[in-house]
Formats: sequence, C-alpha cells, structure tokens
Amino acid sequence: MPTKELEIETMARMTDPTNALRLFQHAFECGQIPVEPGRIDPTLMFACDEPNGRARFNYMRVEGRTLSTLVMFAHSDMIEGHPCFNVGYAVAEAFQGKGLAKSTQVAALNEMANGLTGARIPMIHVEAVIAPENFVSQRVATVIFDSAPVTITDSESGLPALHYSRRIDLPMRAGPERERATLR
Ligand SMILES: CC(C)(COP(=O)(O)OP(=O)(O)OC[C@H]1O[C@@H](n2cnc3c(N)ncnc32)[C@H](O)[C@@H]1OP(=O)(O)O)[C@@H](O)C(=O)NCCC(=O)NCCS
Repeated sequence: MPTKELEIETMARMTDPTNALRLFQHAFECGQIPVEPGRIDPTLMFACDEPNGRARFNYMRVEGRTLSTLVMFAHSDMIEGHPCFNVGYAVAEAFQGKGLAKSTQVAALNEMANGLTGARIPMIHVEAVIAPENFVSQRVATVIFDSAPVTITDSESGLPALHYSRRIDLPMRAGPERERATLR
C-alpha cells in the first residue's frame, strides 16, 4: 500500500455511525434483526441489541428495503446513579440533506423516553461526541441539545471533540402499567 494511503488508514478517527448503518442494512436484508414499530410513531422501526454487553436502542427509518436513517442510543456510564446514553446517527448518502437526521433524532428520543417511562428510572442523561469539523452533525445535535458543547479529548480516538449533554427527567407511570427496564 502506498505510504500516503497507509497513513490515512492508520490515522486515528472518531467513531462513524455510517459503519453501523451499513451493518444494520445488511442484517435487515438478511432478516437478522427483529424490528418492531415505534409506539408513538409506528413508521419508526425499533431494535434493541447489546454490542458490548450493554443495551443499545436503535431506531430506523426504512424506505422500501433500504434503511435511510439510523439513530442509536448506546448505554454508556452511569452519571450520579442515572443511565447515560450516547447518541449516534447516520443517514444513507442518497437520503441526506432532507432533514431526516434531525426529525428522526427527535422521534427516536421521544420513543426511548416513552419506553423508559415507568421503569423506575427518574432521569437519564443523553450525550453526543462530535468532531469539531463535522458541522452537519453539529447542526443535527442542536435539535436535542440546548446548551453549548464542551471541548474534550475523545477517549476512543484521542482527538479533540465536542461533547454535548443533556439531562432528561422521565415521568413516573403509576399502577399496573409500571414496567421495569433492564439497563446495565
Ligand atoms: C450527519 C448526518 C447524519 C446528517 O444527516 P442529514 O439527514 O443529511 O441531516 P439533516 O438533513 O437533518 O440536516 C441537518 C442540517 O445540516 C444541513 N446539511 C445537511 N447536509 C449538508 C451538507 N452536505 N452541507 C451543508 N449542510 C448540510 C441541513 O441543511 C441542516 O441544516 P439546518 O439545521 O440549518 O436546517 C449525515 O450527514 C451522515 O450520515 N453523516 C455521516 C455520519 C456522521 O457524521 N454521523 C454523526 C457522527 S457524530
């Protein structure tokens, strides 16, 4: 491999959810992911997995046989005893620039909050880690994160990154509707 290509190949990069979108597309085509419609928005598809032994909630928009949009909430660390979810999103190239990332992120957050309501979890934290040069992703983040990001060093790549975070209070459902979520 020419040196330049090798350099690019080995250069540290931040996690790109496009790779997850490709894997989900493949699994979807093979019928390997059991998806279910959202409870609030039945056009939003939901699938849960545990890639690193931790819950990840995945929300998808499907156009025919193609996954146009993927929004993932991966359970990361606990913050003051409350679960924190790291959000990642990707839109297939042919569907970009149509507002799908922004609208799907909002719909997915509503679905997740609704799903966790009544799970004896009073609040969650949501965070995003975005490369400073990824201006489009930063535009998408402003839809659910209302405060300015903080500059950090991304723990995966060691690169500078923007850290967005938000605390979300969940209403507690009383009585027989109460469910228990299994978050690790
Ligand atoms: C980031 C990504 C998910 C955005 O998806 P999208 O559906 O095209 O985004 P939206 O259409 O909702 O647009 C969000 C904003 O970016 C703008 N935008 C979208 N594509 C753009 C482009 N190519 N150039 C400039 N602006 C663009 C939109 O106009 C919109 O601006 P607004 O907030 O002023 O309305 C998509 O580009 C992608 O999959 N990128 C690769 C994966 C990635 O970077 N994920 C985020 C990692 S943290």
